[in-house]
Amino acid sequence: MAESVTLGRVSKSYKTAQGTLSVLDNVQLHISPGECVALLGPSGCGKSTLLRLIAGLDQPSAGGVRLGDRIVHEVDPRCAVMFQEPRLFPWQTIEQNVALGARRRKVARPPTQLLSLVGLDDFASAFPHQLSGGMAQRAALARALVGEPEVLLLDEPFAALDAFTRMQMQDLLAEACRTVQPTVVMVTHDIDEALYLADRIVILGQRPATIVATVDVPQPRPRDRGDTTLALLRAQILTHFGFSHAAPTERQINAG
Ligand SMILES: Nc1ncnc2c1ncn2[C@@H]1O[C@H](COP(=O)(O)OP(=O)(O)O)[C@@H](O)[C@H]1O
Ligand SMILES: [Mg+2]
Repeated sequence: MAESVTLGRVSKSYKTAQGTLSVLDNVQLHISPGECVALLGPSGCGKSTLLRLIAGLDQPSAGGVRLGDRIVHEVDPRCAVMFQEPRLFPWQTIEQNVALGARRRKVARPPTQLLSLVGLDDFASAFPHQLSGGMAQRAALARALVGEPEVLLLDEPFAALDAFTRMQMQDLLAEACRTVQPTVVMVTHDIDEALYLADRIVILGQRPATIVATVDVPQPRPRDRGDTTLALLRAQILTHFGFSHAAPTERQINAG
């Protein structure tokens, strides 16, 4: 069962050799169970930090994070995290790697079912070095979902993949999430990826980051990557990053 994610006035600073680095400032966000939220923001603004706080890998300096009605104090088994690099154990088979995602979970799907979902049925007994980058990320997605996490956290999961593989992975993620139905929080620097996958896009400002804008993406699924409404939302998002001249009108889009 998907859980809500609530960030209540979350601030985070790190102690560094130079002093205190303030990274997140008073971030207030509620994500409903089953919702898919994309986080966009400048490099170094604190996006990965935010995901780490949700996962319980780190603690806020002020404010709190809740999953459902429980405060996150430590690494929370209800969250699964997927990173830009697949992080598979090289000495274990793909099936064994996927099965690791089910540890500490009461409900888990058979790893073979997840391998099938991501199209890796024939690679269950292969080792990570025998897979392409895209296939390794599919295995990582299977590992993230095998324990039926309440919350799936994705940190630029497809950033290292070529454009076509990335689009295939986005479709696969959408399909896999339809099956497992977690709440999804996804960091991406790809506006089109956010528009294609998210129900809502949250834009963070420069460090120390606050939420500078929220953009709802009401388009039904499956989405058309060429949809004019998505193009208008894209232009709207670009203005938040200071690219105001990029905003086309609906008429310009339709004429193009
Ligand atoms: N454990 C840490 N100790 C000190 N500084 C950190 C730590 N983790 C991240 N930072 C710093 O916090 C800022 C935000 O990092 P991060 O959340 O990774 O940004 P983003 O994912 O948006 O690029 C960066 O300046 C980074 O160097
Ligand atoms: Mg990051």
